[in-house]
Amino acid sequence: MDRRSFVAAAAAAGAPQLPGQAGKPVRDKPLRGDHWGPLYYDEAERSQVVEVVDTGVPFRFAGRGGVNPLKAATFEKEFAAKIGTRYALALSSGTGALECAMAALQIGPGDEVILPAWTWHSTCTAVIRAGALPVFAEIDESFNIDPADIEHRITPQTRAIIAVHLQGNSADLDPILAIARKHRLRVVEDCSQAVGASYKGRRLGSLGDIGTYSHQESKTITSGEGGSVVTSDPELFERACRFHDVGSLSQPHQQMLGAARLAPFVGTNFRMSEFTGGVMLAQLRKLDSILEAARGNSARVYEGLRDVPGIRFRLRPDPAGDLGSPVFVGFATKAQRDRYLELMKAENVPAGGPQGSVILPIQSYIEKKIATHPAWPTWNTPRGKAIQYGAASCPRTIDILNRFAGVPVGPKYTRSDIADIIAAVRKTYPRAAAS
Ligand SMILES: Cc1ncc(COP(=O)(O)O)c(C=O)c1O
Repeated sequence: MDRRSFVAAAAAAGAPQLPGQAGKPVRDKPLRGDHWGPLYYDEAERSQVVEVVDTGVPFRFAGRGGVNPLKAATFEKEFAAKIGTRYALALSSGTGALECAMAALQIGPGDEVILPAWTWHSTCTAVIRAGALPVFAEIDESFNIDPADIEHRITPQTRAIIAVHLQGNSADLDPILAIARKHRLRVVEDCSQAVGASYKGRRLGSLGDIGTYSHQESKTITSGEGGSVVTSDPELFERACRFHDVGSLSQPHQQMLGAARLAPFVGTNFRMSEFTGGVMLAQLRKLDSILEAARGNSARVYEGLRDVPGIRFRLRPDPAGDLGSPVFVGFATKAQRDRYLELMKAENVPAGGPQGSVILPIQSYIEKKIATHPAWPTWNTPRGKAIQYGAASCPRTIDILNRFAGVPVGPKYTRSDIADIIAAVRKTYPRAAAS
């Protein structure tokens, strides 16, 4: 999940007393909103990196001097087992993972893909780089795609829906999967910001046709950069494997599949190195303990705020599966939300609006339809020429994002940090909501 901006917010100094501020701030110093994975770096990650240095074999597909490089391969095996799919493919980024998903599903020029108006650039650039047309649906108060805003956007050209699980919280998959089944569409789950989270007992990424993950620094577990794709469909897996390695199928993946089914096709390079594979393996083995600590802390915050009069939380389709950070509260107006941000800062418990994503329809390259080449197929079809983006195409998304604010809750926060968060929200929420 993404806490990039919260780190910046937490680092922001100073907490002057605001007019109307009651009493002493809850904390003397701001809480630090560190990224989770690196907090857990220890001997396990160090020895993985040192082993690669010592063997001198950093490339996963070519052993030397009797060394069989297995770090990325073992990560794939353990990651698939953790998520509950037949296959996992280790990659160099979450952006690459989304591009592999598009290639696996053979999405291309003339196709349309429905995705939420609020997500990271890569979810959309993968669609555009495949030559297909992005069609945006509004989000609901989970900050994820609103299942009720999908069906009327389906056309004969629609091929897939991308459900993005943002900031640790799952999209409401049951109705999304039902719509996809009804219209014979594929479902991609972009789990980049929710690695390890689940929906009704199943890990995110295992419910749709194909799941994608980022292992960049701000995500649950990390090697600085990295990504993965999971699926249980051998044909999708083979296409993703071939796409990530210039069209070829390497021996370890061929072994996993039993036999190649497809002819080589044009691909690219999103391979993971053995250094990255080793660090990811060490991090993966800590995933459940990181999640347990994070969920325990966020459950304490939710419990401590439950009885605040009128309090309204972010919608969580499956609270038990949510990673629980940040804890978002909602207001009737943007002015109230902004007042809450000021009051929380003054308490030295900084909060922020929903972060780590962008409102895609108002990004200039999308609004003005600028691809890498003027003849790029995305916006050169009749539908591509006709579609209109911009703020008027996603008013509900903009409104929701303006009315919510969250406090990051880290797995390593102490009981006293948690008590401070609860005290600060209890002190400020009613005042902001009444302003
Ligand atoms: C929802 C989402 N999808 C995709 C990505 C892309 O991942 P990466 O930065 O590893 O390429 C991110 C990264 O922040 C993300 O948040």
